[in-house]
Amino acid sequence: MLVSGAGSNLQALLDHFHRAPDTPARVVRVVANRPDAPALARATAAGVPTVVVPTRGRDPSLWSRDLQAALDAAQPDLVVLAGFLARVPPPVVAAYAGRMLNLHPALLPAFGGPGLYGRRVHEAVLRAGVRVTGATVHWVTDELDAGPIVAQWPVPVLPGDTPDTLAARVQQVEHRLLPATVEALLRGGAPPAPPPFHFAPAAAPPSVEELPRWMPPAR
Ligand code: GRF
Repeated sequence: MLVSGAGSNLQALLDHFHRAPDTPARVVRVVANRPDAPALARATAAGVPTVVVPTRGRDPSLWSRDLQAALDAAQPDLVVLAGFLARVPPPVVAAYAGRMLNLHPALLPAFGGPGLYGRRVHEAVLRAGVRVTGATVHWVTDELDAGPIVAQWPVPVLPGDTPDTLAARVQQVEHRLLPATVEALLRGGAPPAPPPFHFAPAAAPPSVEELPRWMPPAR
């Protein structure tokens, strides 16, 4: 796994896979680009080796070489980016094409791309006034947040939400979506379908005839 921050999604994978006797997966190495990433302590507590490949002040080609070496040494079947705030260099993307996943806290292709990461994603969602956001797992390509989508689950945006409340709701979904998606990929199954999504006032999507009645009143 590649991480830069808190590592709650790393924890979700550890909780999901490392406790199951017939697990199809194990996290074999955690690579961080920041030595102070709290995710590193979670890996260490679970007995997973860690490597720090700092980005700051590094020559880009040396950083690319070191990142590739850190990944290759673990011989992973899959590389999972969760909260990795550095751009993966094109040679590393090419080396892991079709084997590198990213987790994004919105329903791509909406609210993704340059500058849209972490809290900024949720601020943009709230500014736009959309009623539904979510989480996306997608393959990493050279275009930021634009690789083929593997799985998505929706999350409602509720009245009174702040970036923090929305981030917390999206993270709860991420913690289920990411392990389920990794498991499906490694077992060769279909990506997980979203759980039932209830969204007041309608429990089911309205028919076209019902739409005008269902829509919120004009402000
Ligand atoms: C997640 O919300 C993920 O979508 C985004 O960064 C966040 C990482 O959170 N790319 P954590 O470090 O796993 O807690």
